[in-house]
Amino acid sequence: MLEWWIQNTLTALLVLIFTIIIILVYFALFVNINWVKGRKFQTGDKDFILRNKKRGNLPPVFPNGWYAVSESSELKKGQVKHVIALGENFAIFRTVSGIVKILDAYCPHLGANLGQGLVKGECLECPFHHWLFRGDGYCENIPYSEKVPVNAKTRTWESCEVNNLIFVWYHAESEEPNWRPQAVPKISNGTWRYQGKNEFYVNSHIQDIPENGADVAHLNTVHGPAMFLNNIFPGLMRHSWSDAKWMACKNDSEIQEIPQTDGTVSNGINRKKSCETMQKHKAILHLKHSLILLEKFKLLELSVKAVQIGPGYVELQLDSFWGSMYILQTVTPVEPMLQRITHHMYSSRSLGPYAKIVIIGETLMFQRDIEIWNNKTFTKTPLLVKQDRAITEFRKWYSQFYSDNSPTFQTASKSLDW
Ligand code: FES
Ligand SMILES: [Fe+2]
Repeated sequence: MLEWWIQNTLTALLVLIFTIIIILVYFALFVNINWVKGRKFQTGDKDFILRNKKRGNLPPVFPNGWYAVSESSELKKGQVKHVIALGENFAIFRTVSGIVKILDAYCPHLGANLGQGLVKGECLECPFHHWLFRGDGYCENIPYSEKVPVNAKTRTWESCEVNNLIFVWYHAESEEPNWRPQAVPKISNGTWRYQGKNEFYVNSHIQDIPENGADVAHLNTVHGPAMFLNNIFPGLMRHSWSDAKWMACKNDSEIQEIPQTDGTVSNGINRKKSCETMQKHKAILHLKHSLILLEKFKLLELSVKAVQIGPGYVELQLDSFWGSMYILQTVTPVEPMLQRITHHMYSSRSLGPYAKIVIIGETLMFQRDIEIWNNKTFTKTPLLVKQDRAITEFRKWYSQFYSDNSPTFQTASKSLDW
């Protein structure tokens, strides 16, 4: 009995040892060692990509122009807010009579933040020692002093409120504005209703965003695949972008159109004429969109006219069979390489449901651009082909918003250090 037990145990042991040897031999021959310790950094890791992003040879980071710093609805009468943008700290307030004023946020007395103050009538009161500042920056009252020194004044910023947006004028040479965003009649007179918005933060140079309009080649590559399907069933559904033409307005009567074909668009508007009353701070992109189904049927046909107004504001008019809609795009540099981008949608009340579908579609499409911008570098001398000519013209046109003292990435970053 004992002999039988020893014999079986030895057999079992031998089988076990043999199996272990087979497994070890298999691992030694066919399994690779992949020992990764700690966090795995890879494509898609946003922080890692950002830290290592090569910025490229950048143009100045804060071009001269008007920038949206708030929506009108975010600033009621008697309210104040602190906004950081363009390397500055703004205290933006609406007086009791309804006028918007922008002061430098830091009080000249002892540096408290006026954005935390209180609106008193037409003035803003500092939260620290209650000095009272008028909209023109002058101190009106110091509660514990009979006299107000003549030099008791803080820096002011020119503002304008139009199309339910509040803009600040930024100019590196402190020049007065030579143009202003204009009211879109159907928005300012309330004919069209506000239908919603989207808001994004993008890690990129500001110039990358409007350059997208002149980059007509990316329309079908980036925005061609159908939403949600991407390129899985290209024959089933895709977006078509055609007749894309970008042009810079040189001055009131002279225009430059790139690339040129016949100068007209299908709705019969002469493209040259549409630019005649405009100025050189504007550029126009025309294009047509349709959703192609089974390579046969055209749906959601839209004629798009995007007017770039200065460095950070665009008015997009979308004409469909059902009527027109408007999207206002704002791009504001929060930091040298961080842009806040918003789109506000307006349409007639009856077109509201359709406008909401369009803004959802625009949101999804815009996120494809964001993926590119967040991961790209800025190429100062890009390798272009003939069909990319509008990009060269765009860069020439956009350079008008830079001046001798425009902050560079280095100077703007230094001013952020403390
Ligand atoms: S810091 Fe503003 S009143 Fe003193
Ligand atoms: Fe795009």
